[in-house]
Amino acid sequence: MAGRFITLEGGEGVGKTTNKAFIEQWLAGHDIPYLATREPGGTPYAEKIRTLLLDHQTEAVDGMAELLLIFAARAQHLARVIRPALEQGVWVLCDRFTDATYAYQGGGRGLDMGQIAHLETLVQGSLRPDLTLILDIEPTLGMARANQRGELDRFEVEQMSFFERVRNTYLELARLTPARYQVIDASQSLGQVQQHIAAALEPLLP
Ligand code: TMP
Repeated sequence: MAGRFITLEGGEGVGKTTNKAFIEQWLAGHDIPYLATREPGGTPYAEKIRTLLLDHQTEAVDGMAELLLIFAARAQHLARVIRPALEQGVWVLCDRFTDATYAYQGGGRGLDMGQIAHLETLVQGSLRPDLTLILDIEPTLGMARANQRGELDRFEVEQMSFFERVRNTYLELARLTPARYQVIDASQSLGQVQQHIAAALEPLLP
């Protein structure tokens, strides 16, 4: 696969949207053909699953049902968008990917990490991001920002302890495989955050 696969991760209110736009500018500025996408979602079918996942429901959602829906959306996204792009040499910038599943479903919801790893292999084979940027912030700060955006989705209404576990899982993933991750302190100024992001992207250049 010729294209590079970059994922952007972090808890709620870490500034993913602003920084995703910065990365797109950086890629365009280096004349790199790229595609920006997101999870859950990224295709019309997978976006329908996203709605199902993020909307509030009248019944309690079983953790395993949620996990399988996330991987169903991911299978569709990989087949229709991510793999074809990478095969054509197009770089893929994805707002969240499987690290979010480890963090939210594994850390947050307490689902079995081994089962998540099993699904990861089933759905992705050996495909993993080349670089994962984790925007890290104290969850109380992040949620204060998320609250300002308006109505909260089915994940954003979780307890602070849930977001602490999400954060700790991201940090643990980065600790275990440091070569793939860059943890960026998202409480710094935007300029400092973006300087760090650009430095992390440089080594991917051909
Ligand atoms: P966002 O696009 O605003 O980040 O919202 C997506 C939400 O979905 C976010 O709260 C995290 C959640 N999510 C999971 O729980 N597991 C996953 O695997 C992914 C990709 C997202």
